[in-house]
Amino acid sequence: MTHPRSSLPVSTSGRLAAAALVTVAGLLAAAPASSAAPDRTGAATAGARVLAAPDIPIGNVKAHLTQFQSIATANGGSRAHGRTGYKASVDYVKARLDAAGFTTTVQEFTTSGSTGYNLVADWPGGDPNQVLMAGAHLDSVSSGAGINDNGSGSAAVLETALAVSRAQLRPARHLRFAWWGAEELGLVGSKHYVNNLPAADRARVSGYINLDMAGSPNPGYFVYDDDPAIEKVFKDWYAGIGVPTEIETEGDGRSDHASFKNAGIPVGGLFTGAGRTKTAAQAAKWGGTSGQAFDRCYHSSCDTTANINDTALDRNSDALAHAIWTLGTAEPVPPGESYENAADVAVPDNGAAVTSALTVSGRTGNAPAALRAGVDIKHTWRGDLVVDLLAPDGTAYRLKDSSSSDSADNVVATYTVDASAEPANGTWRLRVQDVAAQDTGYVDSWKLTF
Ligand code: TRP
Ligand code: ZN
Ligand code: CA
Repeated sequence: MTHPRSSLPVSTSGRLAAAALVTVAGLLAAAPASSAAPDRTGAATAGARVLAAPDIPIGNVKAHLTQFQSIATANGGSRAHGRTGYKASVDYVKARLDAAGFTTTVQEFTTSGSTGYNLVADWPGGDPNQVLMAGAHLDSVSSGAGINDNGSGSAAVLETALAVSRAQLRPARHLRFAWWGAEELGLVGSKHYVNNLPAADRARVSGYINLDMAGSPNPGYFVYDDDPAIEKVFKDWYAGIGVPTEIETEGDGRSDHASFKNAGIPVGGLFTGAGRTKTAAQAAKWGGTSGQAFDRCYHSSCDTTANINDTALDRNSDALAHAIWTLGTAEPVPPGESYENAADVAVPDNGAAVTSALTVSGRTGNAPAALRAGVDIKHTWRGDLVVDLLAPDGTAYRLKDSSSSDSADNVVATYTVDASAEPANGTWRLRVQDVAAQDTGYVDSWKLTF
């Protein structure tokens, strides 16, 4: 399988605690460092920092499915291209997105003698030259309501978009969500979208994530084997919850990601299986029924709200949110990020030690083996001074001893400390003691560079 290009970062972490930050390795090495994004509270020691995704409420996702079911029921039983149930589905999703602050666009096309509609929703902000997309086809086949195929993916993408709004996320990349028309007639809507994107805009799409069938009733957990970065984010998330995944093989190119892949855009996605039969080995690791299709109602009239495995849909919704947050918010760690305390602290002559504190938060893991402590102490006889760096747990690292022969003034120096045994986060202190009478001074400022 070819990987046309990979421009997305690779997460090194699986499932995340709600407030955690994780590292992302190997991304955007050339991107400029930024030190003070207000919605990012810390940095990883290597690679890039990202924000953790919220849990996507499965109840909200299922409420969208209930709406899709009602729409089908009220419109002759389906949400197929060319039927009123399709346009009603577009209107429902669009209204939710508009109310949440998205910029929505309905793109019309014509196929099989009727008008089709793609719905595209842009979340304001993010780098317009790095657009991260997620999408799902919103049309059903004409024989049923299409709740698993593909109300499930449509609802997961919708609820993830709404979670972006609830979080008022300020991603590094521009986020764009899409619901495709006429997928069931041959990926018509997504092909139309990609083919009508100006080449410059196409080049700005750094990744497309597809969800088509995310809640199959006898589910498998399949990850698309396409862009390695997207694939890794999903695999890591599933590994983090202890659920094994397999590579999706039930018809590569059978959904809208193919339209993007054919244009050289990196793609990925999740899938819980269609008409193929679950093997005994798969049932052993995933539960469910071996010898039975992943979705016995695939493309049939029984693809209703009863045709959903809630656990699978919940997991895939959370996994999608994780991917959007991880890939969408990753930005390079500012190399050598510093924490400084510039408040003056007087050092009593031949007296007790004084300290100046620095609180480090939001980093992951331990401090570096070459933590740099920059010290600026004004003093009239520097030989009087003993200077230590105190780790958050109180461990002292001697930076400078006293010396009766060192008569120069001031301590302006950067000391390198192997602090790799210390967690980075916490309150670090500079401890200064003047151990000889007469000459005096004060701590002007000091800083730690991670
Ligand atoms: N809607 C798709 C289709 O009818 C379902 C599908 C089958 C699928 N195989 C797939 C979706 C593989 C994603 C990946 O063809
Ligand atoms: Zn489908
Ligand atoms: Ca002194």
